[in-house]
Amino acid sequence: MKFTPVFIFFVGAQLLCFTEPWASAVSLSVAGDDLALEMREEGMIKSVEVHQPSAPKVEILTPHENETVTWGIQVRYAIAVVDAVDGSSKYGEIAATECLLEIEYLPATAATDVKAIVGKAASTPESPGLSRMKTSTCFGCHADKIKLAGPSFAEIAQRYGNQTGSSGLLGKRIIEGSSGVWGTSEMPSHPEITTEAAEQIATYILEQGAKKNSWIYPGFEGTFRIIDKPAPGAKGVYRLTASYTSKAQRRGQHSVVLKVD
Ligand code: HEC
Repeated sequence: MKFTPVFIFFVGAQLLCFTEPWASAVSLSVAGDDLALEMREEGMIKSVEVHQPSAPKVEILTPHENETVTWGIQVRYAIAVVDAVDGSSKYGEIAATECLLEIEYLPATAATDVKAIVGKAASTPESPGLSRMKTSTCFGCHADKIKLAGPSFAEIAQRYGNQTGSSGLLGKRIIEGSSGVWGTSEMPSHPEITTEAAEQIATYILEQGAKKNSWIYPGFEGTFRIIDKPAPGAKGVYRLTASYTSKAQRRGQHSVVLKVD
Protein backbone atom coordinates (compact mmCIF):
# COMPACT_ATOMS: atom_id res chain seq x y z
CA MET A 1 0.00 0.00 0.00
CA LYS A 2 1.31 3.40 -0.95
CA PHE A 3 1.32 5.96 1.78
CA THR A 4 0.30 9.39 0.60
CA PRO A 5 1.07 12.30 2.87
CA VAL A 6 -1.84 14.69 3.21
CA PHE A 7 -1.49 18.37 4.04
CA ILE A 8 -4.53 20.06 5.42
CA PHE A 9 -5.10 23.82 5.57
CA PHE A 10 -8.05 25.91 6.58
CA VAL A 11 -8.69 28.89 4.34
CA GLY A 12 -11.66 30.83 5.65
CA ALA A 13 -14.59 28.42 5.80
CA GLN A 14 -12.87 26.04 3.40
CA LEU A 15 -10.89 23.01 4.24
CA LEU A 16 -8.10 22.26 1.76
CA CYS A 17 -6.49 18.83 1.59
CA PHE A 18 -3.43 18.43 -0.59
CA THR A 19 -2.05 15.04 -1.41
CA GLU A 20 1.05 16.84 -2.64
CA PRO A 21 1.18 20.50 -1.79
CA TRP A 22 1.97 21.59 -5.36
CA ALA A 23 -0.15 19.21 -7.39
CA SER A 24 -3.70 18.57 -6.38
CA ALA A 25 -6.13 19.78 -3.79
CA VAL A 26 -9.59 18.91 -2.65
CA SER A 27 -11.65 21.56 -1.01
CA LEU A 28 -14.78 21.01 0.90
CA SER A 29 -17.15 23.81 1.76
CA VAL A 30 -20.42 23.72 3.55
CA ALA A 31 -23.05 26.39 2.91
CA GLY A 32 -26.28 25.85 4.74
CA ASP A 33 -27.48 22.37 3.88
CA ASP A 34 -25.32 22.08 0.77
CA LEU A 35 -21.97 20.48 0.55
CA ALA A 36 -19.63 21.47 -2.26
CA LEU A 37 -16.60 19.44 -3.15
CA GLU A 38 -13.98 20.94 -5.40
CA MET A 39 -10.95 19.17 -6.77
CA ARG A 40 -8.03 21.06 -8.21
CA GLU A 41 -5.48 19.15 -10.09
CA GLU A 42 -2.54 20.59 -11.95
CA GLY A 43 -4.25 23.83 -12.71
CA MET A 44 -7.59 22.22 -13.62
CA ILE A 45 -10.55 22.81 -11.36
CA LYS A 46 -13.18 20.13 -11.20
CA SER A 47 -16.17 20.92 -9.02
CA VAL A 48 -18.65 18.50 -7.72
CA GLU A 49 -21.56 19.89 -5.81
CA VAL A 50 -23.57 17.62 -3.64
CA HIS A 51 -26.90 19.12 -2.71
CA GLN A 52 -28.50 17.65 0.32
CA PRO A 53 -32.26 18.25 0.41
CA SER A 54 -33.20 20.77 3.06
CA ALA A 55 -35.20 19.69 6.12
CA PRO A 56 -38.96 20.23 5.98
CA LYS A 57 -40.34 23.26 7.79
CA VAL A 58 -42.71 22.26 10.56
CA GLU A 59 -44.60 24.89 12.50
CA ILE A 60 -47.07 24.65 15.35
CA LEU A 61 -49.44 27.52 14.44
CA THR A 62 -51.52 27.23 17.63
CA PRO A 63 -51.15 27.15 20.59
CA HIS A 64 -48.36 29.68 20.99
CA GLU A 65 -45.07 29.41 22.82
CA ASN A 66 -45.32 30.32 26.51
CA GLU A 67 -49.11 30.47 26.52
CA THR A 68 -50.66 29.78 29.91
CA VAL A 69 -53.44 27.19 29.95
CA THR A 70 -55.83 26.11 32.69
CA TRP A 71 -56.10 22.60 34.16
CA GLY A 72 -58.77 20.41 32.57
CA ILE A 73 -59.43 22.50 29.44
CA GLN A 74 -59.47 21.40 25.80
CA VAL A 75 -56.71 22.95 23.67
CA ARG A 76 -56.97 23.23 19.89
CA TYR A 77 -53.81 22.73 17.89
CA ALA A 78 -52.88 23.30 14.26
CA ILE A 79 -49.64 22.40 12.47
CA ALA A 80 -48.29 23.42 9.06
CA VAL A 81 -45.66 21.44 7.13
CA VAL A 82 -43.83 22.61 4.04
CA ASP A 83 -41.20 20.57 2.24
CA ALA A 84 -39.38 21.62 -0.94
CA VAL A 85 -40.02 18.25 -2.59
CA ASP A 86 -42.99 16.62 -0.80
CA GLY A 87 -45.17 19.74 -0.89
CA SER A 88 -47.32 21.57 1.61
CA SER A 89 -49.91 20.47 4.16
CA LYS A 90 -51.95 23.51 3.10
CA TYR A 91 -52.56 21.95 -0.31
CA GLY A 92 -53.13 18.40 0.95
CA GLU A 93 -49.82 17.19 -0.43
CA ILE A 94 -48.59 15.62 2.81
CA ALA A 95 -50.24 12.59 4.42
CA ALA A 96 -51.85 13.63 7.71
CA THR A 97 -50.74 10.44 9.49
CA GLU A 98 -47.09 11.30 8.79
CA CYS A 99 -47.24 14.52 10.78
CA LEU A 100 -47.11 13.75 14.48
CA LEU A 101 -47.71 15.81 17.55
CA GLU A 102 -46.04 14.48 20.70
CA ILE A 103 -47.43 15.98 23.86
CA GLU A 104 -45.77 15.64 27.23
CA TYR A 105 -46.81 16.89 30.63
CA LEU A 106 -43.89 17.65 32.90
CA PRO A 107 -44.81 18.25 36.53
CA ALA A 108 -42.92 20.86 38.48
CA THR A 109 -42.93 21.55 42.17
CA ALA A 110 -42.06 25.25 41.93
CA ALA A 111 -42.03 28.11 39.45
CA THR A 112 -38.22 27.80 39.20
CA ASP A 113 -38.63 24.18 38.00
CA VAL A 114 -40.99 25.38 35.29
CA LYS A 115 -38.28 27.76 34.09
CA ALA A 116 -35.68 24.97 33.98
CA ILE A 117 -38.00 22.66 32.01
CA VAL A 118 -38.88 25.42 29.55
CA GLY A 119 -35.18 26.03 28.95
CA LYS A 120 -34.52 22.42 27.99
CA ALA A 121 -35.25 21.98 24.30
CA ALA A 122 -36.89 18.73 23.24
CA SER A 123 -34.86 16.98 20.62
CA THR A 124 -35.14 13.26 21.08
CA PRO A 125 -34.72 11.23 17.91
CA GLU A 126 -37.81 9.38 16.75
CA SER A 127 -38.01 5.69 17.60
CA PRO A 128 -37.70 3.41 14.54
CA GLY A 129 -40.99 1.69 15.46
CA LEU A 130 -42.88 4.98 15.34
CA SER A 131 -41.24 5.95 12.03
CA ARG A 132 -42.38 2.69 10.45
CA MET A 133 -45.89 2.96 11.83
CA LYS A 134 -46.41 6.47 10.47
CA THR A 135 -45.95 5.30 6.92
CA SER A 136 -48.42 2.43 7.33
CA THR A 137 -52.17 2.40 8.04
CA CYS A 138 -51.96 1.79 11.81
CA PHE A 139 -53.08 5.26 12.93
CA GLY A 140 -56.29 4.81 10.97
CA CYS A 141 -57.43 2.21 13.54
CA HIS A 142 -55.25 2.80 16.62
CA ALA A 143 -54.59 5.78 18.85
CA ASP A 144 -52.24 6.16 21.79
CA LYS A 145 -54.66 6.52 24.70
CA ILE A 146 -58.11 6.29 23.04
CA LYS A 147 -59.79 3.15 21.67
CA LEU A 148 -60.68 3.43 17.98
CA ALA A 149 -61.49 0.41 15.77
CA GLY A 150 -58.53 -1.29 17.43
CA PRO A 151 -57.32 -1.20 21.05
CA SER A 152 -55.29 1.81 22.21
CA PHE A 153 -51.54 1.57 22.85
CA ALA A 154 -52.36 2.04 26.54
CA GLU A 155 -54.71 -0.98 26.54
CA ILE A 156 -52.17 -3.09 24.64
CA ALA A 157 -49.40 -2.07 27.08
CA GLN A 158 -51.59 -2.88 30.05
CA ARG A 159 -52.41 -6.34 28.69
CA TYR A 160 -48.94 -7.41 27.51
CA GLY A 161 -46.50 -5.03 29.18
CA ASN A 162 -45.12 -7.34 31.83
CA GLN A 163 -44.95 -10.51 29.77
CA THR A 164 -41.62 -11.64 28.41
CA GLY A 165 -41.52 -12.06 24.66
CA SER A 166 -44.55 -9.80 24.19
CA SER A 167 -42.93 -7.72 21.46
CA GLY A 168 -42.20 -10.92 19.50
CA LEU A 169 -45.79 -12.12 19.89
CA LEU A 170 -47.30 -8.75 18.96
CA GLY A 171 -44.87 -8.35 16.07
CA LYS A 172 -46.14 -11.65 14.68
CA ARG A 173 -49.78 -10.53 15.06
CA ILE A 174 -49.04 -7.21 13.32
CA ILE A 175 -47.71 -9.13 10.31
CA GLU A 176 -50.27 -11.94 10.28
CA GLY A 177 -53.32 -10.01 11.49
CA SER A 178 -55.33 -10.67 14.62
CA SER A 179 -58.88 -11.60 15.55
CA GLY A 180 -60.82 -12.67 18.61
CA VAL A 181 -58.43 -11.22 21.18
CA TRP A 182 -60.12 -7.87 21.81
CA GLY A 183 -63.61 -8.36 20.47
CA THR A 184 -65.29 -9.08 17.18
CA SER A 185 -63.31 -6.69 14.94
CA GLU A 186 -60.37 -8.08 13.03
CA MET A 187 -57.01 -6.56 12.27
CA PRO A 188 -55.90 -7.12 8.68
CA SER A 189 -52.48 -8.68 8.01
CA HIS A 190 -49.48 -6.52 7.10
CA PRO A 191 -47.19 -8.86 5.14
CA GLU A 192 -45.17 -5.90 3.82
CA ILE A 193 -43.75 -5.27 7.31
CA THR A 194 -40.56 -7.19 8.14
CA THR A 195 -40.22 -9.21 11.37
CA GLU A 196 -37.60 -6.77 12.66
CA ALA A 197 -39.75 -3.70 11.93
CA ALA A 198 -42.86 -5.34 13.44
CA GLU A 199 -40.98 -6.02 16.68
CA GLN A 200 -39.70 -2.42 16.76
CA ILE A 201 -43.31 -1.25 16.32
CA ALA A 202 -44.52 -3.56 19.10
CA THR A 203 -41.76 -2.32 21.43
CA TYR A 204 -42.73 1.26 20.69
CA ILE A 205 -46.46 0.58 21.28
CA LEU A 206 -45.70 -1.08 24.64
CA GLU A 207 -43.41 1.78 25.75
CA GLN A 208 -45.61 4.64 24.57
CA GLY A 209 -48.79 3.01 25.85
CA ALA A 210 -47.31 2.66 29.34
CA LYS A 211 -46.34 6.36 29.57
CA LYS A 212 -48.90 8.18 31.67
CA ASN A 213 -48.11 11.81 30.83
CA SER A 214 -47.31 11.46 27.15
CA TRP A 215 -49.65 11.42 24.15
CA ILE A 216 -49.13 10.97 20.40
CA TYR A 217 -51.54 12.54 17.92
CA PRO A 218 -51.21 12.07 14.17
CA GLY A 219 -52.56 14.83 11.91
CA PHE A 220 -52.33 18.56 11.30
CA GLU A 221 -55.07 19.65 13.67
CA GLY A 222 -57.24 18.54 16.54
CA THR A 223 -57.76 19.01 20.24
CA PHE A 224 -56.21 17.57 23.36
CA ARG A 225 -57.20 17.91 26.98
CA ILE A 226 -55.00 19.29 29.71
CA ILE A 227 -55.04 16.93 32.71
CA ASP A 228 -57.01 17.82 35.82
CA LYS A 229 -55.04 19.55 38.54
CA PRO A 230 -53.16 16.67 40.19
CA ALA A 231 -52.80 18.33 43.61
CA PRO A 232 -53.50 21.71 45.21
CA GLY A 233 -50.76 24.17 44.24
CA ALA A 234 -49.51 21.87 41.42
CA LYS A 235 -47.51 23.45 38.62
CA GLY A 236 -46.21 22.10 35.38
CA VAL A 237 -45.65 22.55 31.70
CA TYR A 238 -46.89 20.92 28.53
CA ARG A 239 -44.32 20.41 25.83
CA LEU A 240 -45.67 19.98 22.30
CA THR A 241 -43.36 18.72 19.57
CA ALA A 242 -44.61 18.46 16.00
CA SER A 243 -42.49 16.55 13.52
CA TYR A 244 -42.43 15.39 9.94
CA THR A 245 -39.84 13.26 8.16
CA SER A 246 -39.63 13.93 4.43
CA LYS A 247 -39.42 11.27 1.74
CA ALA A 248 -35.71 12.22 1.55
CA GLN A 249 -35.39 11.25 5.24
CA ARG A 250 -34.86 14.76 6.57
CA ARG A 251 -36.68 15.48 9.80
CA GLY A 252 -38.19 18.84 10.65
CA GLN A 253 -39.60 19.60 14.05
CA HIS A 254 -40.96 22.43 16.14
CA SER A 255 -41.66 22.58 19.87
CA VAL A 256 -43.70 24.94 21.98
CA VAL A 257 -44.08 24.97 25.72
CA LEU A 258 -47.28 25.85 27.56
CA LYS A 259 -47.48 26.69 31.25
CA VAL A 260 -50.32 25.19 33.25
CA ASP A 261 -51.78 27.22 36.07
C1 HEC B 1 -58.52 -1.78 9.88
C2 HEC B 1 -58.14 -1.44 11.22
C3 HEC B 1 -56.75 -1.75 11.71
C4 HEC B 1 -55.54 -1.41 11.15
C5 HEC B 1 -55.27 -0.68 9.86
C6 HEC B 1 -54.53 -1.85 12.09
N1 HEC B 1 -55.10 -2.47 13.17
FE1 HEC B 1 -54.14 -3.26 14.75
N2 HEC B 1 -55.88 -3.98 15.46
C7 HEC B 1 -57.14 -3.74 14.91
C8 HEC B 1 -58.13 -4.50 15.64
C9 HEC B 1 -59.62 -4.53 15.36
C10 HEC B 1 -57.43 -5.22 16.63
C11 HEC B 1 -57.99 -6.22 17.63
C12 HEC B 1 -57.91 -7.60 16.98
C13 HEC B 1 -58.30 -8.73 17.90
O1 HEC B 1 -59.25 -8.60 18.66
O2 HEC B 1 -57.58 -9.75 17.85
C14 HEC B 1 -56.04 -4.84 16.50
C15 HEC B 1 -55.01 -5.29 17.33
C16 HEC B 1 -53.71 -4.85 17.30
C17 HEC B 1 -52.70 -5.22 18.25
C18 HEC B 1 -52.87 -6.15 19.43
C19 HEC B 1 -52.85 -7.56 18.93
C20 HEC B 1 -53.18 -8.61 19.96
O3 HEC B 1 -53.10 -9.77 19.59
O4 HEC B 1 -53.55 -8.28 21.09
C21 HEC B 1 -51.54 -4.58 17.87
C22 HEC B 1 -50.18 -4.65 18.54
C23 HEC B 1 -51.85 -3.82 16.68
N3 HEC B 1 -53.17 -4.01 16.37
C24 HEC B 1 -50.95 -3.04 15.99
C25 HEC B 1 -51.20 -2.51 14.72
C26 HEC B 1 -50.19 -1.94 13.87
C27 HEC B 1 -48.73 -1.76 14.24
C28 HEC B 1 -50.82 -1.55 12.72
C29 HEC B 1 -50.19 -0.94 11.48
C30 HEC B 1 -49.15 -1.71 10.85
C31 HEC B 1 -52.22 -1.89 12.85
N4 HEC B 1 -52.41 -2.48 14.08
C32 HEC B 1 -53.17 -1.65 11.90
C33 HEC B 1 -57.40 -2.94 13.84
C34 HEC B 1 -56.45 -2.43 12.97
